Amino acid sequence: MSSTPIYTSIIVILILMSCSPKTAEQSMSKQVNSSTKSSSKVESLLAQMTLDEKIGQMNQYNGFFDVTGPAPEGGDNKKKYDQIKAGEVGSMLNVRGAKEVRRMQELAVENSRLGIPMIFAFDVIHGLKTTFPIPLAEAASWDMDYIEQAAAVAAQEAAAAGLNWTFAPMVDISRDARWGRVMEGAGEDPYLGSRVAVARVKGFQGEDLAADHTVLACTKHFAAYGFAESGKDYNTADIGLSTLYNVVLPPFKATVDAGVGSFMNSFNELNGVPATADEFLQQDILKDAWGFDGVMVSDWGSIREMIDHGHAADGEHAAELAANAGCHMDMESALYTKHLKALVEQGKVPLSIIDDSARRVLEAKEKLGLFEDPYRYCDEAREKERTYTGAHLKVAHEVAKRSIVLLKNDADVLPLKKSGQKIAVIGQLADSKNSPLGNWRLASDDNSASSVVEALQARAGNEINYSQGVMLYSGQEFFVMDININEEDASGMDEAVSLAESSDVVIMVLGEHGMQTGEGRSRADIDLPGMQQELLERVHAANPNVVLVLMNGRPLAIEWADQHIPAIVEAWHLGTKSGDAIADVLYGDYNPSGKLPMTFPRHVGQVPIYYNHKNTGRPGPSDAVFWSHYTDVSNEPLYPFGHGLSYASFDYRDLSVSVDSVGRKLDVSVSVKNSSDVDGEEVIQLYIRDHVAKVTRPVKELKAFEKVMITAGESKTIDFNLTEADLSYYDNRGHLVFEPGAFSVFVGGSSQTVLEQKVEVE
Ligand code: BGC
Repeated sequence: MSSTPIYTSIIVILILMSCSPKTAEQSMSKQVNSSTKSSSKVESLLAQMTLDEKIGQMNQYNGFFDVTGPAPEGGDNKKKYDQIKAGEVGSMLNVRGAKEVRRMQELAVENSRLGIPMIFAFDVIHGLKTTFPIPLAEAASWDMDYIEQAAAVAAQEAAAAGLNWTFAPMVDISRDARWGRVMEGAGEDPYLGSRVAVARVKGFQGEDLAADHTVLACTKHFAAYGFAESGKDYNTADIGLSTLYNVVLPPFKATVDAGVGSFMNSFNELNGVPATADEFLQQDILKDAWGFDGVMVSDWGSIREMIDHGHAADGEHAAELAANAGCHMDMESALYTKHLKALVEQGKVPLSIIDDSARRVLEAKEKLGLFEDPYRYCDEAREKERTYTGAHLKVAHEVAKRSIVLLKNDADVLPLKKSGQKIAVIGQLADSKNSPLGNWRLASDDNSASSVVEALQARAGNEINYSQGVMLYSGQEFFVMDININEEDASGMDEAVSLAESSDVVIMVLGEHGMQTGEGRSRADIDLPGMQQELLERVHAANPNVVLVLMNGRPLAIEWADQHIPAIVEAWHLGTKSGDAIADVLYGDYNPSGKLPMTFPRHVGQVPIYYNHKNTGRPGPSDAVFWSHYTDVSNEPLYPFGHGLSYASFDYRDLSVSVDSVGRKLDVSVSVKNSSDVDGEEVIQLYIRDHVAKVTRPVKELKAFEKVMITAGESKTIDFNLTEADLSYYDNRGHLVFEPGAFSVFVGGSSQTVLEQKVEVE
């Protein structure tokens, strides 16, 4: 078996950058250079289009009225309606369903002068109606085939619902569990993040964008949004160039290399420039260095937000800055339609920018086949046939099982015995059919997830009794609302404690409601919310035979639980098949195989905590005070990146690393034995350390992995091949450089690897 790291095996384009500000004309010539040769259809349309119509292609509106009803008579909506009919809206988001999309599409196609269809976009983040695990959970599967399949199913349901464009994948690397949007990404590591990002793009886009089961993907948020200071959403990102090039950008670049059709910029500023108007990111890196020829859409209202950032004086100025920086489409600021025409006439925005932007949008429409048939995705019978099918639910179930991470299993508390047990199930989340759907699930039916209680009760053999214990949340659980967390009502505690006392095993399902993570849901504390910690301690005092099942969208600081609870299962927000997947793992019908894509801290004060940190000049440990550490909490994570147990046990041995100095390649092999009597899958992880470099390198960097089934008693030899690119890094000018010298290669089942070999590479 060999590994082909995605983002390092591509042809490396040197990023030659200058940070000096550019004039509109310089930007213009870059725009013209970077645009591709369009088809005659696109060129002939462009030749016929008025300036207003071209600008219209750069305009995206939210679904704003019930399209099955009469058009609104007044206000902004009337204006938007008229704009669609005038061909001044290129795309809409949040209109979905074959029938609704057709009605809206008709407005543009049947009324506008050139009949140009709109593109319909939607946040298909982890499935449409069939809901998959949240993206962070899926990343924990380290299973690229299933991640791709999940995206393909999502694309199929989306395309059947009239949609052409998903605002996914989010590839923002984040090291901060406080940030609510970690649930939407693939965690802290650029290599894993790149692999996951590529799998998702392939799944969404397939081989042919015009096929009736694929959608245009959108890599977001460009860039550094995941580095929001103090984990507070929308906050300033302030990172150095080394982190930008080596950590933040690789997953974005990997998706460009994989052919992603669109990008979204981001709300944050980076080095004082809002990403929405950042030429360095959008022009110099994305288009010039990486050759991206797709569409860049703004984030929701992010063009207008540049006024609050203190970057644009007013809406007109914001439109000028964003358009000139290479943002081709305005999502919901309505500033392009308002101001771009005058800006062109005044010479502040070159016409070539408008042409290039409109051309890119038209090209996307052409690739989607919308010019051939604007209603090709609007077949109601097909929508019915292809939505929430048995086959889709099966994939959701498989992915959900694979996303679960067994964090701890002392004394083999798990798997549960299949009969004769009296099992207490405690915690409001155990009974929830809504929360496990997670955030970003706009199209799922409420209460459509299987709950842990019902999945366990569906299995004969044991007696299953449920008690809510203390309430975690109240309120209706809709997408837009914040749920209320109970901080004081302890009723229900005693009932749960007495149920625990009279049971053989207690399964406590605790964590975060699905709406406690996601956009705008940052937390300063990352412990168990509400009164759950107290509930856990009281139940444990009554019966220590506790299995803690966590449902959450971010790493949690659960040190007490780690010290006291014998078995801990990380079950995230797993989507439609949540309860079934958890029951499979608890009973050992599926042997857990997930690994953490993000470090779990002991204490929120350790955040940001991540495995690929620098060594510092005082790494310690030392008896003296003056080394890089805390005086009150260990430096060690609670659970490291890459950690995850199995009911099997795997022994790593015979690491061999041979250097092919001519080609600067490393051939690595390792033997992994399943020394248990159950079959299991293991994610074999390879890390390197470049010991001396002009720009210091992390203590460990993931460079390859393989997920392998190893049957009971079997040994497998796993081979990895590292190339020169794998041993290289981006310097502070964005050049990929290789420096000869000492490298360590580590292999194991987590980032706290067991085997190491040091080699010299010339
Ligand atoms: C989010 C994007 C999303 C967009 C459209 C924004 O608030 O940041 O990720 O795609 O809304 O729903």
